[in-house]
Amino acid sequence: MKKLLVGITGLTLAISSSAFAQGSAFSPFVDANGNISRPVDFKTNPDWVHLGAWAVVNENNEGNGVHNVYTTHSAAESFRKNGVFPDGAPLVKEVRAAAADALTTGRAHWATDKQVWFVSIKDSTNRFPDNPLWGDGWGWALFKADAPATQVASDYQADCLSCHVPVKNSDWMYVHAYEPVLGPKALVNPPEYIKNASLKAPAAQETSAAADSGGIDLAAAKKSFQQTCKSCHSDQAGKNGIGPSLAGVVGRKAGTGEGFRYSAAMKSSDVVWSADTLDKHLLDVKNFIPKNRMGSFFPQGVKDDKKRAEIIAYLESISK
Ligand code: HEC
Ligand code: HEC
Repeated sequence: MKKLLVGITGLTLAISSSAFAQGSAFSPFVDANGNISRPVDFKTNPDWVHLGAWAVVNENNEGNGVHNVYTTHSAAESFRKNGVFPDGAPLVKEVRAAAADALTTGRAHWATDKQVWFVSIKDSTNRFPDNPLWGDGWGWALFKADAPATQVASDYQADCLSCHVPVKNSDWMYVHAYEPVLGPKALVNPPEYIKNASLKAPAAQETSAAADSGGIDLAAAKKSFQQTCKSCHSDQAGKNGIGPSLAGVVGRKAGTGEGFRYSAAMKSSDVVWSADTLDKHLLDVKNFIPKNRMGSFFPQGVKDDKKRAEIIAYLESISK
């Protein structure tokens, strides 16, 4: 019990010990009126676990520093199982200033002076409906380094909520960044900006197709196909050249394109074209299907990993 009293103001203590005891059944950091106190030993107490870190700095070292986030092992365990934090779960985000320098790893940033602590306590049953620091499933609190025991937020809707709107669907918390500790359930409702971040500047009208091909820019992929394959292969159905049309090739058995005279080697192979078999064929055209005719026309294949992936993504896109 002694440990719990650290950081609670005299005013709070005056309320009554029975009120405190009632609060502590829910959370040791919340009293019966919903006053939140700052957990202090989250870095040294073995009950706590580091969830993850954010570096909010640019190359000029501007920004508001290094953020480290902590919770308890039991809360993390429960999240891994159920995909939600259990009632009373404490989340602490410690914000520190950052220093930066060129180290042997590159430009590195590290945490220095402490600045503020954001504390959220899970509350699914709206225990403190009249307290302006409680709502939307959490208690919300803020402590500053100059008076670390004093809670300074006054209204969670004004002081906290608008900044957490991007992660409303994951219970208002940025849990996707804690997947290494919280497991796959932390990625179940990723915020919109994460979906965008996985796309590498797709051409505007091909956004959805690019998303389907794992972030590859299909406009660039088409160009790679045209530069490397088009002299022998059309991407139009039914148009054969030196090689067969590659429209619809993914999912097709080798040597079965309509109207093309294949080599015996290609016809008798039991390869079915997929991202995997195309990859092997283009890496080693002569030997993946021995004695196929492309092996003498284009033995070099495509050794460049990025180009190969692009061309395969393009073949997938013309096989739907
Ligand atoms: C200026 C916007 C902003 C405000 C205001 C803000 N937050 Fe956050 N908060 C964030 C962002 C963004 C993250 C995660 C990324 C980061 O730290 O840079 C975060 C992370 C957190 C975390 C760690 C868990 C998580 O969601 O990743 C807690 C706890 C937290 N905030 C609580 C609060 C509380 C309590 C308040 C109000 C007292 C508050 N925040 C106000 C933007 C904000
Ligand atoms: C210089 C001509 C030439 C070039 C360039 C070429 N191929 Fe071929 N390709 C052929 C020929 C000829 C065949 C038929 C092989 C046979 O029947 O043995 C073929 C067959 C194929 C097949 C088997 C198709 C089927 O229906 O079974 C695939 C897949 C293929 N090529 C992919 C590619 C890709 C992708 C590129 C570009 C990276 C490429 N080829 C570049 C000549 C070429």
